[in-house]
Amino acid sequence: MKGMMKQAGIRGIGVFAPERVLTNRDLEQMVDTDDEWIVNRTGIRERRIVADEMATSDLACLAAERALADAGAASEDLDLIIVATNSPDMLFPATACLVQDRLGARKAGAFDLQAGCTSFLYALTIANNFIATGYYKYVLVIGAECMSRIINWQDRNTCVLFGDGAGAVVVGEVPAGYGILSYHLRSEGSGGPLIALPAGMSRLPASFETVAKRLHYVHMNGREVFKFAVKVLEEGCLKVLAEANLAREDLDYLIPHQANARIIEAAAKRLRLPMEKVFMNIDRYGNTSSATIPLALFEALAGGNIRDGDNLVMSGFGAGLTWGAVAMRWYDYRKEKEVG
Ligand code: ACO
Repeated sequence: MKGMMKQAGIRGIGVFAPERVLTNRDLEQMVDTDDEWIVNRTGIRERRIVADEMATSDLACLAAERALADAGAASEDLDLIIVATNSPDMLFPATACLVQDRLGARKAGAFDLQAGCTSFLYALTIANNFIATGYYKYVLVIGAECMSRIINWQDRNTCVLFGDGAGAVVVGEVPAGYGILSYHLRSEGSGGPLIALPAGMSRLPASFETVAKRLHYVHMNGREVFKFAVKVLEEGCLKVLAEANLAREDLDYLIPHQANARIIEAAAKRLRLPMEKVFMNIDRYGNTSSATIPLALFEALAGGNIRDGDNLVMSGFGAGLTWGAVAMRWYDYRKEKEVG
């Protein structure tokens, strides 16, 4: 079977970041915090906040349209749309179905995938397998979040960390030797209570009491998540490198989930990776959950940090607990346009 497999990779990327910027100074007016604490403990200086009239599907569609244009593909070409999100417009219908309708992707299936901040990597892995088997030609994977709608703006432990945004990739076939080389997906459900949004579903249906206790917002044990995150960012990276028969020295660029600059720096140190090989934009966006990796990948490409044939690893972790990584040899699909 493996000999007949196709090679899957990214063939288009687009992002959308809301215009409204919320700085640490702005937060000082809202909760008992200060710019210095936030910068020193997290590396975050500002984050984007979605406009009042928009929801996650709106951000997702804007990123998706840009990704399709970059890929030179039409929405009718899409076979499947996966929206990776923890902050859907509503529990159902799925945000992916709203996106499918808005894009006019008439022949696409659509579903949401929720695996905490690892959702985008989980979705990318599913897309990879649909392309590799030849079952589908184009899968649209979108990481989109309105975290500002599910965090408690009175809780300084969480509200300073998150932001809104979206990133989308078109996954399709790429030439042999390029594309997704390996992946690693894991879960440790016993750590579920460490990051949870406890109320509003079957365990604790919404009630006056759950709302009064603010149980419909994100609750997190930051210190425990921190320790877990450093360990699994490194582990995911090493697993996918080994699976792809690559040595640490072969890794050209790491795109980590952007949750905290100190987590990223600690993981890079354990990997003995110089920070020039690690992308960070958390200072400007905060933690946009499922959107951090496509947002980071987009900016790394725009900055010329990634070239054709580079070995990349994307590594993340999140609520669940979940973690995962994907190794990829970058295919510069844009060169096809230059050739004509
Ligand atoms: N401003 C000022 N002080 C604060 C703030 C704030 N915004 N937040 C917490 N503090 C205080 C705490 O109350 C505590 O005070 P105390 O010692 O008097 O109790 C003190 O600062 C230190 O708190 P710690 O929790 O030990 O601080 P730490 O250095 O661990 O940083 C942080 C906290 C930033 C939350 C860190 O633990 C972290 O980033 N953890 C990982 C979180 C993460 O990655 N979450 C995303 C998961 S992905 C998903 O799926 C959603």
